[in-house]
Amino acid sequence: MTIIRGATTVEKDEKEQISLAVKEMLDEIFTANALKKAEVKGFLFSLTTDIHSYHPAKSARECGYDFAPLFCAIEPDIDGGLKLCIRLMLFTDLADNRTVKHVYQRGAKVLRKDISEIFNIALDGPAGSGKSTVAKALAKDYNILYLDTGAMYRACALKALRLGVDTKDGEAVKGILSQLDVKVEYKNGTQRTMLGEEDVSEKIRENAVSMAASNISAHPVIRIKLVEMQREIAKKMSCVLDGRDIGSAVLPDAKFKFFITADSKVRAQRRYKELLSRGEVVDFDKLHAEIVARDKQDSEREFSPLVCAKDAVVVDTSSMSIEEVIATIKSYIQSKI
Ligand code: DC
Repeated sequence: MTIIRGATTVEKDEKEQISLAVKEMLDEIFTANALKKAEVKGFLFSLTTDIHSYHPAKSARECGYDFAPLFCAIEPDIDGGLKLCIRLMLFTDLADNRTVKHVYQRGAKVLRKDISEIFNIALDGPAGSGKSTVAKALAKDYNILYLDTGAMYRACALKALRLGVDTKDGEAVKGILSQLDVKVEYKNGTQRTMLGEEDVSEKIRENAVSMAASNISAHPVIRIKLVEMQREIAKKMSCVLDGRDIGSAVLPDAKFKFFITADSKVRAQRRYKELLSRGEVVDFDKLHAEIVARDKQDSEREFSPLVCAKDAVVVDTSSMSIEEVIATIKSYIQSKI
């Protein structure tokens, strides 16, 4: 007895999507393994608890996979587990000793990173465009890592501010390069940005750090150091990275690239609410002016500026809810994965 595994996901709990995903998974399993009907002894599907609209065993039967017993079970709901997922164990009795190919499609590719390709999602755009909220949601749904690259520039800026170094002064910044001991760690799947042994993840969010981060990020010595760290992380595992130059410079070969933008007033409003919720009171007009100045500086710097990569999908989130943005991006990814 040889078991061939398969898994796939749907975007919505809808009959048509379930039937199509099941058919595509079975078709690929049968083609990739050159399976003959007589070799198949049984199909065991399992579903995550968020699927109710249709029965994968019925879908399989309807598209001609009705020559062996079919059964379907519900999986326990595991915190952090993949959503809207259909798995399959296909029991076979192969006529020869060919090597089997398991099939992981759509969002389920992340379940078997060893046999599925590593893929990266690049999310670029100006401050406050909603990148980090989208990135966190994608990372959770696809069970991949989220790397907030802005946090790394912010940590460098915080260190420079603490050392009393002018973040605009390239020579002065060069002088503290060896002391910029920025590290990224993950605790319970969440990024913690470290300066040496100190967790500065909260401290770097203060508004005073934002402009300093933009200043310091313009210096090539800083970018070269941080980009190398970012590439190291991204080549080892599937991840979603947000920043300014991910699609254009850090990972020009990223499988998915999005440029997320919004009107500057809308972005300032979002940042204003975020700062208020953390107890930081700022003047709205001043914050708006700072965001505009930061965009200008990030876009006009000479080395690796904020730019929309030629092959990025542009999403203007000005009049979209965050749920709509996530759904738009996910539906694009699902159609290409
Ligand atoms: O995304 P953020 O606001 O946390 O980023 C802070 C600053 O860091 C931003 O103004 C520009 C810089 N940055 C960058 O130059 N490249 C990146 N990949 C990420 C951020």
